[in-house]
Amino acid sequence: MLSDKQIEELDGFIKERTGKKRYVHSVNVAYEALKLARTYGVDENRAFIAGYLHDCAKEMDIDRQRELVEQSLFPVDDIEKNAPALFHAIAGAVVAHKELGIEDMGILEAIRFHTVGAPDMSGLGQVLYLADLISADRDYKDVKKMRKVAYESLNGAMLEALKFSVSDSVKKGNAIPVSTILAYNEYVQLKNEKREND
Ligand SMILES: [Fe+2]
Ligand SMILES: [Fe+2]
Repeated sequence: MLSDKQIEELDGFIKERTGKKRYVHSVNVAYEALKLARTYGVDENRAFIAGYLHDCAKEMDIDRQRELVEQSLFPVDDIEKNAPALFHAIAGAVVAHKELGIEDMGILEAIRFHTVGAPDMSGLGQVLYLADLISADRDYKDVKKMRKVAYESLNGAMLEALKFSVSDSVKKGNAIPVSTILAYNEYVQLKNEKREND
């Protein structure tokens, strides 16, 4: 486990950058990510750190977020560049890297893709994506079902989550980022392969 000093540093960093509600969400996601990591054999400390930091840029001025998106260490497609609601994940990885000195590319990548998903996601990336959806403060129609699925199968839960994300974008008339579509197709494929092998 991380030392008290390391946790205090994370906590201070987030407290400075978030209001009460998002601070509580960040802490909840950190502990949910830790639990999921333990369940699926992913490094617990890295999951905890990624969870704490994932929304660190969300309350920044949107123009500042846009500037940070331009500095991304990871690819950003044109759809994301035109979707301000998605900036914070891309900007968050930049902030964690530059302002907190996080060098672990796996943690930065998990933060960067926590809103859109990606093909070939690491266990850490999947754990963060799901922890963000099922953390204790989350309250939406199917949250109980999602919480159950998240602890049954990582791939199954990712497919459920991406199905929701894709259909929600369609319903709202939003474009779908390329990495989301690639991720969705990948988990459909995995499900089909599993079915064939069963
Ligand atoms: Fe987020
Ligand atoms: Fe979040």
